[in-house]
Amino acid sequence: MAVPFFVEKYVKQFKAMNPKYDTVYELSYDEPVVFENRDNILLSFAVIADTHLPDRESAEKNLENAFLDVLSSQDKTDALLLAGDIADYGLKGEYERFFRVFRKYKDKLRLLVTMGNHDARFFYRTASKCVIENTENLLGINLDSKPYFTYDINGFSFIVICTEKAVLEKAYISPEQINFLNKELEKATKDGKPCFVMCHQPFANTHGLPEVWKTGDMGEQNDEVRAVMEKHKNVFFINGHLHGGVCNYVEEVLNKENNVISLSIPGYRKENNFGITDAGVGYICEVYSDKVLFRARNFLTGKYVYGDYTRFEYDLI
Ligand SMILES: [Fe+2]
Repeated sequence: MAVPFFVEKYVKQFKAMNPKYDTVYELSYDEPVVFENRDNILLSFAVIADTHLPDRESAEKNLENAFLDVLSSQDKTDALLLAGDIADYGLKGEYERFFRVFRKYKDKLRLLVTMGNHDARFFYRTASKCVIENTENLLGINLDSKPYFTYDINGFSFIVICTEKAVLEKAYISPEQINFLNKELEKATKDGKPCFVMCHQPFANTHGLPEVWKTGDMGEQNDEVRAVMEKHKNVFFINGHLHGGVCNYVEEVLNKENNVISLSIPGYRKENNFGITDAGVGYICEVYSDKVLFRARNFLTGKYVYGDYTRFEYDLI
């Protein structure tokens, strides 16, 4: 698609004003991923959000840092999750760069992605086709043209839910998908195991909403989806979209009695809005037989992040 001259001019001006826009981050190998109890760990995964990948080499290199970081440790991370807004505009070139990186590491790391509003808003049909096909190839599964699915890693279930059409910034979760979520959660949690659900948009009135972003919630099916999630035990709902940073908005207890937790993952590509605002920060999750642990890590620089809201530990019930 040809970019109009005035857009090109604007982008050049914007970049000149923002020296960090094109920064290629250098990954340090001094502080590798180390699990707190490596002898007893059952599952581990890294989660990032909002890569908003533009069709630029610098962005592709920065994305690759997350892979190089987790794979350079002798403690083996099983999966990398991306909680939506894969690409900036949902363009072919952006996905080509993104999935080129993902394909390169597909034999070493299981890769799970969901679409965000940036993926869905302009070219839903082509973007979703591309994401579905790549997910099928990366994971060796058949999605039957649907952007939502369940995937098992080390006996634990990951349920990826996703908008089924463009609804401005929000999501559309069909009755079939809500039914699917309920059934899958029932199966996944029946033996007391934790289950991980990922969607780009968080629930209304969580993580500082609506103050931090007036229209930042899941949308029309919000209450129905939340009610399904709250019915089950030890559910960890992972989302992005808000670009909140490492701050008091990261964690939200959705249902204390059932141990249903929501985590808002900071944005990967750009500076965030509150607390520790650095780009590249996500969380590493360590799963043990009795607890689940999330620790903040900067995957662009390869370092753990310390301070408030960088470590969350949950006893399983
Ligand atoms: Fe978003």
